Amino acid sequence: MVNCGVILAAGKGTRMYSPRPKVLQTVLGDSMLALVLRACEGILADTILVVGHGSEMVERAFPEARFAYQLQQLGTGHALQCAMKALQAAQATHVTVINGDIPLLDGSVLRDFLDQAIGSDLAFASITVPDAGAYGRVVRKGNQLVGIVEAKDFAEPLHGASTGEVNAGIYFADVAKITPLLAQLSNTNASGEYYITDLVALALAADFKVRAVCCGEQPQMLGVNSPQELAEAENMLARKQAATLLQQGVILHGPQFVRISPLATISPGVEITGPCEISGASTVASGVRIASHCVIRNCTIGANVQIRSFCHLEQAEIGANAIVGPYARLRPQAVLETEVHVGNFVEVKNARLRAGAKANHLTYLGDADIGSCTNIGAGTITCNYDGHAKHKTTIGANAFVGSNTALVAPVAVGDDALVGAGSTITKNVADGELAIARTRQKNLPRRSR
Ligand code: UD1
Ligand code: MG
Repeated sequence: MVNCGVILAAGKGTRMYSPRPKVLQTVLGDSMLALVLRACEGILADTILVVGHGSEMVERAFPEARFAYQLQQLGTGHALQCAMKALQAAQATHVTVINGDIPLLDGSVLRDFLDQAIGSDLAFASITVPDAGAYGRVVRKGNQLVGIVEAKDFAEPLHGASTGEVNAGIYFADVAKITPLLAQLSNTNASGEYYITDLVALALAADFKVRAVCCGEQPQMLGVNSPQELAEAENMLARKQAATLLQQGVILHGPQFVRISPLATISPGVEITGPCEISGASTVASGVRIASHCVIRNCTIGANVQIRSFCHLEQAEIGANAIVGPYARLRPQAVLETEVHVGNFVEVKNARLRAGAKANHLTYLGDADIGSCTNIGAGTITCNYDGHAKHKTTIGANAFVGSNTALVAPVAVGDDALVGAGSTITKNVADGELAIARTRQKNLPRRSR
């Protein structure tokens, strides 16, 4: 069996009133789609994303994913049709289709569903909710499954009273069996769309083996269609994550204010004070302390690092025993090696600070390589951009750059060099040299007033 995933992610998400495609809305800092994809990891063979509305934005967010395109959003059944070519190319014998708006889904819940679904020609997950709202209703006659009826098409006299059993939007199917059924879908319904959910009645009529896998009140299968549902899902996931981390031995001060994505990996013994947000593929090694009001995304943080309050860190790598902040900003490709200190109002972008280097105050280091144990004085700026291109600044080991220095790149300062405060450095400084580039001070007698 080759069971491939198809994630339906082409819809606009009209009920979110946002220019962003719904599946890119975030829960604890990561998009719903990233969370659904993570749930599929290691369980499904290739996973294909069906995209359409705002597809460029989705492609940018997932540059390595496989895509199928639904140019017009004609419904979820049509979205699956759009993925059939890609499924054939992947030699899928079976497909697991998941709505892209189920952010709380995780691997274990998906595995439990598949354990029961495998063996059916078509299966779907059903959940029980207090208010069926906009969900598709599971309709039965006695115990016998009849089909799924969408909310807009549901009428009690025709379909019987709603039982609260609804379709979760997760399906498993035999590709060869459902292929001819997809061609039979019609859009003569209240929305004028091709519903994937109509496959259930079609499969039953064809005498296929169809199963509703009843998952009870499974909160991890709730769909998100509105800002309110997004907020509820986020609160739920934040609570669950905090409980899991506490149980694993992570110390959380104010756990209700700590928002840590399931994509992040936090070692036991790490101490985090809320409010704080950690998202993306961040890893935080043991002994790290993160003070309040920090936003950390896609960062690797080594052992015993201290992140002080109010730091904003993105795609940075921080070596063991480094001290960052308060009020530091690390931008993509900032690499701080071991025991580096980066202090308040320091911005680092695409720059490496080698072991033991220090930039403690009011500095911008962009496109730079700073040697080990070098001290960067307050107010140092690497002037890396000339209006057209970016240029590099290289500073050797054990150098000392005085305060308020502008380093006009491309420029290099050697090992053990000293740059006088207030200098504008436009020429290379060799190892061991002292460079001063400022006008000499003149002291004149003061004019009488
Ligand atoms: C859908 C189901 C409903 C189920 C609910 C569970 C249908 C017709 N209805 O309703 O039975 O109870 O999910 O949450 O499937 N999408 C596309 N292309 C389209 C339309 C939608 O890719 O043309 C994608 C959306 O981006 C979304 C997913 O399919 O990720 C579901 O669409 P949505 O509009 O949220 O369907 P629901 O109304 O929630
Ligand atoms: Mg939905």
